[in-house]
Amino acid sequence: MKIIGGPSSQTLACRVAALLNVVPTVIHFERFPDNEHYLKITEDIAGQDVVLIQSTVTDSDWVALYQLLDACESAKSVIVVIPYMGYARQDKLFKPGEAVSARAMARTVTADNLEAVYTVNLHEKSVLKHFKCPAFDLDASPLIAEYIVSLGLKEPLLIAPDKGVRAMVEHMASGLSLDWIPFDKIRLDGATIEMTGGGLDITGRDVIIVDDMIATGGTMAEAVKILKGNGARDVYTACIHPVLSRNAVLRLAGAGVKDIMATDTIEKIQSRISTAPLIAAVLKK
Ligand code: R5P
Repeated sequence: MKIIGGPSSQTLACRVAALLNVVPTVIHFERFPDNEHYLKITEDIAGQDVVLIQSTVTDSDWVALYQLLDACESAKSVIVVIPYMGYARQDKLFKPGEAVSARAMARTVTADNLEAVYTVNLHEKSVLKHFKCPAFDLDASPLIAEYIVSLGLKEPLLIAPDKGVRAMVEHMASGLSLDWIPFDKIRLDGATIEMTGGGLDITGRDVIIVDDMIATGGTMAEAVKILKGNGARDVYTACIHPVLSRNAVLRLAGAGVKDIMATDTIEKIQSRISTAPLIAAVLKK
């Protein structure tokens, strides 16, 4: 098996390869003078089973994924792992005339030798049906739960900041016998939200707000306000995908967040929890 990490998932790909006892395949990539992308796989992969691991955080990441798929034309089979799939939040028609971008992107991931696509904690699972091959979503939340427990916090309490992650947070909490509380969120626009959470007895407790992703940090910052106002001791944030756009890191620090914990579906300094065991386990099968 050949494991190829794209430009955005080099570390994760190396971790997966190490768990599978495979030397990762080296790719070369750069830009032409006109800024177009160039990509080359430096080994012969003809007739091989190839795994491509590439998160699509930026549009350039999508281009690299298409180039990788194309460069694998001579492979026997290809499995694509998209640990973080960009555009996945535009998963339905919110207003007439809009592009359903998640569908548009899923449809473009195609090749004759493509066997399957794996994503991790897709924002909305229904996007899977738009891939033109079997597609599966992996759940990294148990890895975050394990990490939280390893911190030895004081009576840790998990918060689900909106409806979309309630099931995930409830599952994490029940597996570890932790308390959890759901909040309600209304999004006013891309960067502004209103949140409510009531009946909290959290004085002196350590609280961890868990979401599938942190983008602008608006959701987390609102939840922190409520928690601090109700006497929480230390407030942490945890997410699968640390998008951390704009000034999210500063915003969360300014709101009094003690730490941002995240997985390596997006490779950032906060990505201390690796999804490699999850991905390697599936590839082993
Ligand atoms: C929304 O439904 C997601 O689960 C996240 O809550 C959201 O994407 C986070 O975005 P932001 O950090 O910009 O509030």
